[in-house]
Amino acid sequence: MNDGSTIASFADIHPDRESVLGQALAGLGATPKTLPSKFFYDERGSKLFERICEVPEYYVTRVETALLGDIAGQAAEMIGADACIIEYGTGSSEKIALLLAALDRPAAFVGVDISSVALRGVAETLAGNFPDLAVHAVCADFTQPFTLPAMSGQGRRVVFFPGSSLGNFNPEQSVDFIANAARLIGPGGGMLFGIDLKKDAAILDAAYDDAAGVTAEFNLNLLRRLNRECGADFDLDAFSHRAFYNANAGRVEMHLVSRRAQSITLGAQTITFAEGETIHTENSYKYSVPEFQDLARRAGCEPMRAWTDANSLFSLHYLSVI
Ligand code: TRP
Repeated sequence: MNDGSTIASFADIHPDRESVLGQALAGLGATPKTLPSKFFYDERGSKLFERICEVPEYYVTRVETALLGDIAGQAAEMIGADACIIEYGTGSSEKIALLLAALDRPAAFVGVDISSVALRGVAETLAGNFPDLAVHAVCADFTQPFTLPAMSGQGRRVVFFPGSSLGNFNPEQSVDFIANAARLIGPGGGMLFGIDLKKDAAILDAAYDDAAGVTAEFNLNLLRRLNRECGADFDLDAFSHRAFYNANAGRVEMHLVSRRAQSITLGAQTITFAEGETIHTENSYKYSVPEFQDLARRAGCEPMRAWTDANSLFSLHYLSVI
């Protein structure tokens, strides 16, 4: 039992400035140039992402939240009583609160996120709203191994990974990620994934390039962050946002395009750009239901149930760890 908004534990192992600089230099030194998408989520980036979730074109969050609201009772029955829920990417509380509210006496919750401010806020909200739940927070880069805090619940351990964030890995990385998560929770554990479905390119192009320009601002925030945290000298007006559905690869690609030939300084290095050269900042893979189930099986999990919304925009999957 916790009083008010007391968090049971908060572990901070998120990347430091040196690590951001080193990974940025590695990406910008490669051909073609890339930057890790996890660096989107500094404090400003997390707030911009919250705004993306509200733009009319970005259907993902609204459709997933409504679908989860519809099926949370069914998922809760499969999960059972006294469960420990581990969420990857705890940036807002709405979806996890829907799941927790449907569960029978959930014992513990572990939120894992790279943004410390967003994570703390959600953890405090959940601790306040679920007084019998032990709320733990781990501020970490979840693409790297981390240890789970000690949890008391005797029920099933279940990983919750919403937002189609798995799609930000490529398919091979996704299999590894699911297999690692399966190892973390062990046989008999469960997983609930939110996965965006393949669909008409026009819907996807608009979802990742909204008319109000919030997604463009979010993409450019990567450069703003490198300026602020690593002393880089990117001119934000000299880069533009480009996003499009690459149907062959089954993914939305996000790039920052250099509007002119230019060079910038990052750390001790000078990085040159040709006019029109891009930095590839993110992929968002889209999967049909059978395609995702195939990934799950390759990772040693058994797909138990899949749900989709009435317009076949988005899917939720419950898997069991074998
Ligand atoms: N997980 C989200 C997705 O792939 C992340 C995302 C949404 C995103 N919009 C974005 C990442 C724009 C970068 C830029 O749908």
